[in-house]
Amino acid sequence: MENPSAPTPNKPSTSALESEIFVNQLISWYDHQKRDLPWRQTDDPYKIWLSEIILQQTRVKQGMPYYLKFIEQYPTVNDLATAPESEVLRLWQGLGYYSRARNLHACAKTVSNDLGGEFPSSFEELLKLKGIGRYTAAAIASIAFNKPNAVVDGNVYRVLSRVFGIEDDISNSKTLKIFETKANTLIDKKAPGEFNQAIMDFGAIQCTPKSPACAICPMSSFCYAFNTGKQEVLPVKTKKVKVRNRFFYYYVYEFGDKLLMKERGPKDVWQGLYDFSLLESPESLSEESVLKEISIEGLVVIDFSEEVKHVLTHQRIFARFIRVKVKDLGNFEALSNSKKLKAFELGKVQELPKPILIQNYLQKEIF
Ligand code: ADE
Repeated sequence: MENPSAPTPNKPSTSALESEIFVNQLISWYDHQKRDLPWRQTDDPYKIWLSEIILQQTRVKQGMPYYLKFIEQYPTVNDLATAPESEVLRLWQGLGYYSRARNLHACAKTVSNDLGGEFPSSFEELLKLKGIGRYTAAAIASIAFNKPNAVVDGNVYRVLSRVFGIEDDISNSKTLKIFETKANTLIDKKAPGEFNQAIMDFGAIQCTPKSPACAICPMSSFCYAFNTGKQEVLPVKTKKVKVRNRFFYYYVYEFGDKLLMKERGPKDVWQGLYDFSLLESPESLSEESVLKEISIEGLVVIDFSEEVKHVLTHQRIFARFIRVKVKDLGNFEALSNSKKLKAFELGKVQELPKPILIQNYLQKEIF
């Protein structure tokens, strides 16, 4: 067995001086280059928590409008805790991975109902809350409460593996500990929140995955990757995520200004969001076989859409929409009962929380 922490040949272990130079350069870089972000103008743990949960899901630019919307609608954790879940999901719409939104809501309820509306200040106590993992707990503890807990995410893997030549495989879950230990020895104890945000920005702006800006990097003189030409190799990641293909055929039943929709259940994507009657297949199906499913009299197919590709982290969804006009109310109600669908007027359909795939279809074809 290889020992992951054994020193690599020709790679000197980091001296205290090198660590100090790294931290000084990082903080000085951050002083000049840091992004002016709304959650950096506060030490309110609620706002910092909210920003971190959103930023697990998307990049800063895309996450910003969501952060602003949430803060406007729910200025305090108590406001979020008392909101209906469907409203929270609706506000989250488009960010994807909706279990995060449900965890966000559950966490707000715990903080509001059991903790008197105050977030705990320690890493360990924060970790106990729903939806808060090691990264988020460290971010909140350091940024809001000045605790010396270092964050480790993709940015941190990249920066530390390159500068210090850490070649352990980050697909291996044990490697997290190696990086956490390293980051926790480096973290600036006087300004841990600064340090964590500096490394996040440094990874996002300077030490980027492709074509890092080494020519203008203050670390290049002592950066292992730059000096050995290994920028493209580090961090080492062997396992690629497996992606599954799914083929969705959505029957959009309409009667007058009503559509039949269904709330999605647990154990699959989009729990709690609304979509249409669905035929799913692991392979692409012919139009004929899709239409066979609805050979009931009184139904008129008025459109069969092109395929729309929707990419999630572990799956690729290829969706087609079959728009079906139902001629009489009796048929409409029978369909609703037999397929466990609910009828909604278009005004109400607008308000329902929906996957972005469904929202885009409705926007294009129905509203
Ligand atoms: N990504 C995750 N958290 C962040 C933060 N606080 N600032 C910038 N980017 C981030």
